[in-house]
Amino acid sequence: MRIRTLEDYTTAYRKSVETPERFWEEVAETFSWHKKWDTVLDYSFEDYSVKWFEGAKFNITENCLDRHLLTQGDKKALIWEPNSPEEEAIEFTYKQLHEKVCQFANVLKSNGIEKGDRVVLYMPMIPELAIGVLACARLGAVHSVVFAGFSSSALADRINDAQAKIVLSSDGNFRGKRIFDVKKVVDEALENCPSIEKQIVLKRTNSEVTMKEGRDIWWNEEAKKADTFCPATIIDAEDPLFILYTSGSTGKPKGVVHHAGGYMVYTKYSFENVFQLRDDDVYWCTADIGWITGHSYIVYAPLLAGSTTLMFEGVPTFPDAGRFWEVVDKYKVSIFYTAPTAIRALQAKGLEFVNKYDLSSIRVLGTVGEPINEEAWDWYHQHIGKGNCPIVDTWWQTETGGIMISNMAGVTPNKATFATLPLPGIQPVLLDAEGNEIEGNNVEGNLCIKYPWPSILRTTYGDHERCKQAYFSTYRGYYFTGDGCKRDHDGMYRILGRVDDVINVSGHRMGTAEVEDAINQHEDVIESAIVGYPHEIKGQGIYAFVICDENSTKSKEELQKEILQTVSQHIGAIAKPEKIQIVSGLPKTRSGKIMRRILRKIAEGDVSNLGDTSTLLDPEVVNEIKEGAGL
Ligand code: WT7
Repeated sequence: MRIRTLEDYTTAYRKSVETPERFWEEVAETFSWHKKWDTVLDYSFEDYSVKWFEGAKFNITENCLDRHLLTQGDKKALIWEPNSPEEEAIEFTYKQLHEKVCQFANVLKSNGIEKGDRVVLYMPMIPELAIGVLACARLGAVHSVVFAGFSSSALADRINDAQAKIVLSSDGNFRGKRIFDVKKVVDEALENCPSIEKQIVLKRTNSEVTMKEGRDIWWNEEAKKADTFCPATIIDAEDPLFILYTSGSTGKPKGVVHHAGGYMVYTKYSFENVFQLRDDDVYWCTADIGWITGHSYIVYAPLLAGSTTLMFEGVPTFPDAGRFWEVVDKYKVSIFYTAPTAIRALQAKGLEFVNKYDLSSIRVLGTVGEPINEEAWDWYHQHIGKGNCPIVDTWWQTETGGIMISNMAGVTPNKATFATLPLPGIQPVLLDAEGNEIEGNNVEGNLCIKYPWPSILRTTYGDHERCKQAYFSTYRGYYFTGDGCKRDHDGMYRILGRVDDVINVSGHRMGTAEVEDAINQHEDVIESAIVGYPHEIKGQGIYAFVICDENSTKSKEELQKEILQTVSQHIGAIAKPEKIQIVSGLPKTRSGKIMRRILRKIAEGDVSNLGDTSTLLDPEVVNEIKEGAGL
């Protein structure tokens, strides 16, 4: 099943398109199942429903852990590198990780968690986060990890949407020089979360916390009482594994739901082939488990593949900008997977931080999360890969569960700034505005996928209509990605960025409506419009145009400061706009629609060609905004 040559790729790809069910069935055969599937695939993109391997019985953690115990129980499964290089690292063999996961599964069980229950995790990047995720999966419970940078109100929304029974947290969180009060955020959220029965708290920073009698319990004390074996709950391939919230172009974040069987099959398959995994690899993905990259390619796929996965608590610039390379050197990391925004940030700090370390262990580099620019690609290739490591540019999404378009390290060609070719099983098409497939090469269009793959999202939690609306209604019969894309003269794919009202800041996805809703919570704000603009390090920055109450007694500076606080409170610091321009009006059409195209141009600082403004209700407002922006 493993692809090792270009010819293997071509053969596998052809087979996956000609006989997809046969193709995926053969891949699925390589996993442990208690019972095999009744049907390989049953689907409709018209009235959206997808089922892979239905009727199969299994547990994903038996594939991640138990099945390795016999052959490589003493192999390192998880290496954890703490925030501070002064603190000791922790390593878990497969055997040890199995015990920890079982033990914590027993804790969850004794606190009432059963198959199908939802558990929210709001935790730092510590081993217990991965253990908590796997413990849920052990019991067939559905995990929902919320990135620990989100605010208490964003956390409460997610807990309530999922009607979670238990939340896992820690006292605090070390990130760089700072300590965050994790439990305080959770406590605040829980004031408005009636479904939560227990909060299980891990001690990390020894920060002072108050434990609420009857609700809050300590992780370690509970674990001490629990047995280190826990039988896996056997579930169906089409039972849910997790919910992960992500932003769309409208309203509140959606809970993307992934089901266990197809997700397992696809994440492992894509991982081994894209990175061309070897037995002795030390693999490091720098993402946070709060995002899909961490779910699929820190926790599940590497463990399914029996590999060694490294998890890092800290930030790239603490104690200094050499931290990533120090860690690579320390563990002899052979596969390194990060985001363009991190590459650009470190590139800006200079080579002295890189050249202090021995990076010769690196064999494969990867990027994910946003389009990579040529300069960053070249720097990564030359200075980190020393000119001789393939870079896999992996395009995918929360909804796709796994990597969709990417080169395979050293097997299919590299092409700077191109995600290149689809993985076997993935059928990308470019559609024009009328919904016609654009044939041939050297073309551009909206990227859609025309056939299901095993780890496609199954629904959006509690609202299947929304799932249909968001992904299957723009183009009938296709999954619409929201990305614009080019297919060049060689048939290689290059992602151009979002074509919907979603922006990507440092690889974090945000809905314009979501940020506007947050800004509008400020009592002096009448209306707002946000757009993304090119940002050197972050890829995109957020530019907010805000109309405030004329009678407000506050100064511009005060308003700007308070608006930032409002966004932090409602979403989290990651959504804070770079620039806030107070305006007296917004460019709207006669039907009341904001012409974002114009605002985007102004935010970019390019007003040479604003296009047709004749349909605007009040064209004069554009001049005023231009002037206000200093253009
Ligand atoms: C959006 C999905 C998938 C893990 C991280 C982000 C953008 C992702 C690439 C890439 C160009 C990329 C797309 C996509 N994106 N990877 N290699 N090249 N753009 O997951 O938060 O669901 O965001 O990230 O715009 O739609 P996400």
